[in-house]
Amino acid sequence: MTEAILLVGGKGTRLRPLTVNTPKPMVPAAGVPFLAHQLARARAAGVDHVVMATSYLAEVFEPYFGDGSQLGLHLEYVTEKEPLGTGGAIRNVASRLHSAADAPVLIFNGDILTGLDIGALVDTHTRTGADVSLHLTRVADPRAYGLVPTDDSGRVTAFLEKPQTPEEIVTDQINAGAYVFNRSVIDTIPAGRPVSVERETFPGLLSDGAHLQGMVDSTYWLDLGTPEAFVRGSADLVLGRAPSPAVPGRCGDQLVLATAQVAPDAKLTGGTVVGAGATVGAGARVDGSTVLDDAVIAPGADVRDSLIGAGARIGAGTLLDGAVVGDGAVVGEHNELREGIRVWCGARIPAGAVRFSSDQ
Ligand code: GDD
Ligand code: MG
Repeated sequence: MTEAILLVGGKGTRLRPLTVNTPKPMVPAAGVPFLAHQLARARAAGVDHVVMATSYLAEVFEPYFGDGSQLGLHLEYVTEKEPLGTGGAIRNVASRLHSAADAPVLIFNGDILTGLDIGALVDTHTRTGADVSLHLTRVADPRAYGLVPTDDSGRVTAFLEKPQTPEEIVTDQINAGAYVFNRSVIDTIPAGRPVSVERETFPGLLSDGAHLQGMVDSTYWLDLGTPEAFVRGSADLVLGRAPSPAVPGRCGDQLVLATAQVAPDAKLTGGTVVGAGATVGAGARVDGSTVLDDAVIAPGADVRDSLIGAGARIGAGTLLDGAVVGDGAVVGEHNELREGIRVWCGARIPAGAVRFSSDQ
């Protein structure tokens, strides 16, 4: 039996307006709340008990996932009154764990899409006799992450969260957001106050001489913390590039949920998903995009690498490229929205109001 803690209490600030009504792990990716993919992957790796550490919009998790029995899991929810940070959240759920003091407990950030071999991380942990083991991945620009240099044996030598100066960028290996903790180490995190596992717990354990082991793994990995990454991750799930047993259908160029209506001559490509009750009109093109439930894409619209919120409407002939349209927003006909633009939930953009190019 293996237990896991899922950290799902963050505000998802960088994903707004997607996270105005929905916490980040509940935003649908490839047709189901993103968290469903993580839970299915944990289950497939032999995890049977998951404690969700919730805070922001905590009330939406349990109605959807319930006690977890439909997923073959025993799920529990613990809500922080005030956000306790990553380390505080881990400590706050410790009383729900059944594992013995020397048993390994898995901990996952709630916004990571990865093909990590979870069993291999646990094996590395057991084989090396570490106190904590961390999944590490290499990225071109590590500044937005926790840097984790290791020695020849993979033992962690330092932990530098979100480096500020060029001198601090000592490696391209980053914390990939999956850990194995010995149960007894969780119990040493101070209770009842905010603690950052990255800024306080890991550096503290290192200076106390604890054994932190890194496992570098070059499998698929993406932090879905930004709209661009979220849209990419959803498309990769649909395309089958990112592995998940929870994709509700066959992987391929498109995923159209059962009650969606797509005109016969609309073109859906690049891992586009069209949610339940959504409509895509005649001649529309939707590439690499996520169209949430009940959204409407009018005829002739051209949508690329974008996310269309639940119930939002995109007018005829409008072009979206790298755009996020919040739930219930209305983008009128013949607009051109590009490059990271965010249309807030419920906003209304009149026909022909916004263009990036000079043509009409
Ligand atoms: N329960 C709870 N309470 N969860 C929290 C809290 C809190 O106060 N704060 C953050 N979380 C959860 C978030 O929901 C997310 O699943 C996870 O903790 C990490 O928080 P993020 O806000 O996504 O952090 P990050 O992406 O900037 O950095 C983290 O992830 C990187 C990898 O993607 C760090 O762990 C970095 O070291 C790491 O490289
Ligand atoms: Mg993150």
